Amino acid sequence: MGWELLMSYGDLVRPTWLCRQPQRVQTVFRKSHAAGHNTVVSKARGGEEEGFAEAKADWRRSALTAGGQAQAALWASAERVREQIFGQRIFVRGVIEVANFCRQNCSYCGMRRENDALRRFRLAREVIRRVIDESLPPSVTDLNFQAGEDPVALRELVLPVIEEIAKEKRLGISVCLGTVDHRLYDELQQAGARGYIIKLETGDPEQYRLLQCPGRLERRLEAIRYLVRTGWCVSSGFIYGLPNQTLDQVIGTLDLLRSLSLCGCSVSPFIPGEGTPLSSEKRADLDQTLNAVAVLRLSSPRWVVPAVSALNLCDSSGYVRALRAGANLATINLTPGEWRGDYQLYRRKRWIMTEERVLQAIEQAGCQPSPQSWIAASSSFPPSADPI
Ligand code: 5AD
Repeated sequence: MGWELLMSYGDLVRPTWLCRQPQRVQTVFRKSHAAGHNTVVSKARGGEEEGFAEAKADWRRSALTAGGQAQAALWASAERVREQIFGQRIFVRGVIEVANFCRQNCSYCGMRRENDALRRFRLAREVIRRVIDESLPPSVTDLNFQAGEDPVALRELVLPVIEEIAKEKRLGISVCLGTVDHRLYDELQQAGARGYIIKLETGDPEQYRLLQCPGRLERRLEAIRYLVRTGWCVSSGFIYGLPNQTLDQVIGTLDLLRSLSLCGCSVSPFIPGEGTPLSSEKRADLDQTLNAVAVLRLSSPRWVVPAVSALNLCDSSGYVRALRAGANLATINLTPGEWRGDYQLYRRKRWIMTEERVLQAIEQAGCQPSPQSWIAASSSFPPSADPI
């Protein structure tokens, strides 16, 4: 049975072939259902568009809920696909958390504006420069500037620093600065930034509203589409295991993400954040979150899929296991120690991915750091090369 399932997932990841043969998806699922592992039976009838959509939903549904042998096969397939596309190379980016002011009030996030337990900060430009000039690990090919949604930090810190380093250093530059006026996206791009990380969190409009995610979902989507249209390499992401989240919401979110011409996408396990209205909710299940990592890899093989540090809050093996379930980017935290504790997404006591931890995780996953920037690598793929 294990073998049969391995074959099923193996078959599912033969992209171009699969695209043309919905009938095959149906067969694969009938087979594995017969083996007793799938909860949903595909109703697909060969070639019909509607049936094809259902069959797709089916494989992701059973993959997301897989356990035991099916789960091991799923993770192994995703790891194999990552190797086929990217080899054993893991992109390594450095992140500097430049400010923790945030005008948003997301109910899952510790940096929400109503959390007054935080000491709010904006780093000085000299501090940021010092990190870049004096403590950049050699494995880092990319720098990501991250902040709460704080247009002041964007204008006064991030823009001028990027302008300087884009001229001086050979680094891929990305930012994660939220939904802002589109003109600011243009200015960042003119300064030399090429990657924009902007998470969707959930693609379900009602859940988005209830969780007080940034602005309205439609506006977030407009921002993503604008960034893609204007030539940014855009990476998005969602949170898995949010309170009351249904499988349908996850599938819908995956569909939406796939429709956006992204370069990459992450999945974060939901962590009940200190100082948030969701602080007493249940944490996401690590294994299921890893299933979601594998689903991202299998459904969009060319995406850059980060292993997020929150995985290690679930279990100390979480990060390495994500790399072995198809993730292919690791992030070294470069924020000076004095400010790290106040950049609080989940809890004050953070799990900091230092250079040492990141390199060790990459090695434990049987991989090496990539010498190439994730932005450069993504830009070399044709825009619509993704399968299923
Ligand atoms: N659980 C999981 N992910 C979270 N994030 C913030 N708070 C949480 C949480 N409690 C993620 C969101 C956000 C990013 C900065 O961190 O995806 O976009």
